[in-house]
Amino acid sequence: MKRKTSLSSLLSTVTILSSVQLALGGTTLGRTPQMGWNSWNAFKATVNYTVVQEVIESFDSLGLKKAGYDYVLLDDGWSSFNRTADGYLQANATSFPSGIEALAKEVHAKGLKLGLYGDSGHYTCAWRPGSWGYEERDAQTFASWGVDYLKYDNCGGFQSMTEAPQVRFGAMKNALALSGRDIFYSVCEWGYQFPWHWGGDIGHSYRISGDITTSFANETACQCKTAYCLNTGYAGCSVLTIINKMKEISQYQTQGHWLDMDMLEVGNANFTLHQQQTHFAFWAALKSPLIIGADLSKLSNDSLAVLTNKAVIALNQDALAEPVIYRQAFSEEGLFQVWTGKVEGGYVVLLLNEKSYSQHISLAFSNLGLGTPKKVVELWSGQNLRDSIKFNETLESYQTLVFKVQT
Ligand code: GLA
Repeated sequence: MKRKTSLSSLLSTVTILSSVQLALGGTTLGRTPQMGWNSWNAFKATVNYTVVQEVIESFDSLGLKKAGYDYVLLDDGWSSFNRTADGYLQANATSFPSGIEALAKEVHAKGLKLGLYGDSGHYTCAWRPGSWGYEERDAQTFASWGVDYLKYDNCGGFQSMTEAPQVRFGAMKNALALSGRDIFYSVCEWGYQFPWHWGGDIGHSYRISGDITTSFANETACQCKTAYCLNTGYAGCSVLTIINKMKEISQYQTQGHWLDMDMLEVGNANFTLHQQQTHFAFWAALKSPLIIGADLSKLSNDSLAVLTNKAVIALNQDALAEPVIYRQAFSEEGLFQVWTGKVEGGYVVLLLNEKSYSQHISLAFSNLGLGTPKKVVELWSGQNLRDSIKFNETLESYQTLVFKVQT
């Protein structure tokens, strides 16, 4: 009898544990790609309370919250270089004198959500303490502070790096599931071991490449120009390289487990308006998270207009959750690219001139095999095309036109 009881309690523990394991993927978090602001691209490890307070205010004053952005994400540098004497993570006392719990309250009072950054190794990339071996304790700490989002990174070597990313990132997934708080889990392991084949079981989103840089094309770093490249010189990827990597893998995009093309450089880099539109259009239509990386106090009107374009954001948040797919047969390798995908009410076509000079491009919508076009609107200009069957015009350097086709 005794033995029977312990067997059944063991079984129920196993049932509880397996439902806990499923909990991360099973919540309503991540039904559409996450939208927010992250400190890294503009502030690196110098993020501080004053910056964040300005960001919170800008979410309202710039109309970002209204456009759908709701996460305020502190990247590397928010924490102290040391844990507390009894081994807990703590905020950097100079940059965040009131701590994270007070900040979370402030962010929540504005109807926004707060995210932190952590690392699956011994150290973060900027040498703050990582969570290797402290996963449950740190997840509990984040939950107790009222944190809503964790970006979890891949630095901090030594013996932690002998474990596969599935183990290191899986440990934090389980710890978050046990924390008692619904925390969005953003996996950041730079595409190592091709997480589009396994990341869906672990995070709500997962990075597919090394860090984005402020180059639009022709970067000097980022040796890996394709998604399946194994070179470890990972960082410094241009916008165009990251778009090109997605040619191979956009079909792995799934609802609730988003492929993450990295934070946006719109408003941060010295891009032309067309480059910014191309960058944002591809991130949106490929269903990447839309995380602004700019210093919001310096955002130009053009950059703000790109980041808050309602119609383009609607592609990203579309209920069908389908990414655009590269259409090789309609593209000219190295010259221009055609991508298409279904959205509610029809489909979307992205036409990119990937050259630094203008090109005349023609494309028959009716040949794409996606239904007979009834009406075609170009989303950046808001204009209806006179001829809904065929586009035949000039695109400027690095320009992307985004056609919403009603069928
Ligand atoms: C890595 C990540 C970046 C950023 C930095 C912080 O490089 O990929 O997005 O978080 O670390 O140190």
